[in-house]
Amino acid sequence: MTTTATIKVTAAKTRISPDLFGIFFEDLNYAADGGLYAELIQNRSFEYQATEQPTWNSLSFWEFTERGGAKGMWAVSDSSPVHPNNPHCVQVRSSKTGDGVGLMNPGFDGIPVKSGETYDVSFFARQNYMNQAWAADSGLEGRPMPVVVRLESLDGTVLAEAPLQIAGREWSRFAATLVPNRTDPKARFVLLLKANGMIALDEISLFPRSTFRDRRNGLRSDLAQTVADLKPRFIRFPGGCLAHGDGVSNFYRWKDTIGPIEQRKGQRNIWGYHQSVGLGYYEYFQYCEDIGAKPLPVVPAGVSCQNSDHTPGLGQQCVPIADMPAYIQDLLDLVEWANGPVTSKWGAKRAEAGHPLPFGLEYLGVGNEDHITSGFQERFKMIFDAFKAQHPEITVIGTVGPNHSGSDYDAGWAFGRKLGVPIVDEHYYVAPDWFWDNLNFYDRYKRGTGEVYLGEYAAHDAGRRSTLRAALAEAAYMTALERNGDVVRLASYAPLLARRGHTQWTPDLIYFDNTTICLTPSYFVQKLFGQNAGDEYLQTSIETETSKVLAASTVRDSKSGDTIVKRVSRNDAPVRTTIDFSTLGIKAGPATCTVLAGDPNADNSFGKAPTIVPTTTTLSLEPKYELDLSPHSLTVIRVAPNP
Ligand code: AHR
Repeated sequence: MTTTATIKVTAAKTRISPDLFGIFFEDLNYAADGGLYAELIQNRSFEYQATEQPTWNSLSFWEFTERGGAKGMWAVSDSSPVHPNNPHCVQVRSSKTGDGVGLMNPGFDGIPVKSGETYDVSFFARQNYMNQAWAADSGLEGRPMPVVVRLESLDGTVLAEAPLQIAGREWSRFAATLVPNRTDPKARFVLLLKANGMIALDEISLFPRSTFRDRRNGLRSDLAQTVADLKPRFIRFPGGCLAHGDGVSNFYRWKDTIGPIEQRKGQRNIWGYHQSVGLGYYEYFQYCEDIGAKPLPVVPAGVSCQNSDHTPGLGQQCVPIADMPAYIQDLLDLVEWANGPVTSKWGAKRAEAGHPLPFGLEYLGVGNEDHITSGFQERFKMIFDAFKAQHPEITVIGTVGPNHSGSDYDAGWAFGRKLGVPIVDEHYYVAPDWFWDNLNFYDRYKRGTGEVYLGEYAAHDAGRRSTLRAALAEAAYMTALERNGDVVRLASYAPLLARRGHTQWTPDLIYFDNTTICLTPSYFVQKLFGQNAGDEYLQTSIETETSKVLAASTVRDSKSGDTIVKRVSRNDAPVRTTIDFSTLGIKAGPATCTVLAGDPNADNSFGKAPTIVPTTTTLSLEPKYELDLSPHSLTVIRVAPNP
């Protein structure tokens, strides 16, 4: 049975944050390597280690192959590496040529290749004879080594092949292009020596030519576009717990992630795998620029993650006070790298990488849901003071622990207020009911004493599934974030991406494998809010007994002049509401109406046709418009200003 509700909207406006809805990216669930980063080779630098996963070593995900009676051997080497940050390489020796001796790599659960598309192979190699006299006697010295690089199906069918000649005792970069003659979602990469001799190899890379915006060392275009479609106003990176890491030695250090890829310093990811940092700070900033989002890097506050269980009992570790000046200098250098002129030391490095213009860094997160210990406070203050003195133009974002209440939250807020931290980062993952019960959470916040970045939130439904019920709780809460957009400056759902079969955390916004992308109901909610954000809030109130099941907001985008009405219902039956557009100065006319509705238990999970997808229609508005909200729905109406 349809119930009715009165929702009043007045023309009274509040200015709200134009940056409100953004995204949280963390290299968790193989979100970077094997995810957004388009590299197709796994363990390209031979740097996987047993400290990342007990069964891993430098040769993990590589296989030695002897074709057609060929004989040879392979071994890891750490003598004369391509770069000290990339200390291991592989040596391959052929002693009987046959059809070739070499290496195979399966990528991340297979290498998806498409017929007719171009793939770029590159690697570093040098001729490598351990016994010079033998090489000279056998006539190998000075003769280049012929190799072939291939894409193959698992049954050995060659999909594409290119020959190369490796010459010289010094490391050089070699490159080839491969164009497969067939599509194969699960191919492998092969490199074969075609003559007797020995070479060393490192940084063996394979990229699709077509990346997002055709960037070199770029991003997987379908995933990057899916994220861009959220229209995020900012991107937080590189985490999460990954940012402050498993101990001080595991901090994510931005300087290790820029420059030529063979010179970057990969390391163990706090989530239990390897991070190549091929997707590093340059690529993050470039992606932000490409999609019109502000960069929001998060750096450790001089302390490590306190709740990592990867090194049991480690707890929060602190950078020694004596080392803090150097640590702080690294953070200040980030501003010069991002915003400084090309004539500055760090600005020059940005320019060298291909971006002479400044990236326009405005926000910097310092710390990630840290325990508010004295060690944290001392270090945070040192960093905060340094930024205030040297880069007052950067808005530093503090942190108030991993919950919406409790000792870290209280201590974090008190500390932030004392220091005058302009924005603090709140995190909470809670049940859908919590969101519905706390729609007034920020209505209660005092204005003028610090703003909020709700940096991580998600509704965790039973079984931590991405249900419509969870998505609607998030949508309801987002209407409250809009209403409080004068004190909540930024907000981002977390986490963003998860690779099927390699997930350390659920629920996530977007699931994917090599060829499929699965969009959760929460994704559609984020997208509808991102694409229909405003910078003015029009006072909206629900006058009904069913208020515990309804949420509403009305915003205006001052650029387009469009008015956007959002209504959320978790009622089991339809709810009839009336919108009085005449009070907003809007006359009759067309409007678009998008509805996301369905079974609250549905979750669009992998392998099934998604059932929760938005549908858009055109409405013929009348000044007093009767809108029936579907059971369990989010409705978004967008009206252009009167002509
Ligand atoms: O979003 C997943 C994790 O949740 C983040 O890394 C951490 O900050 C939080 O505990």
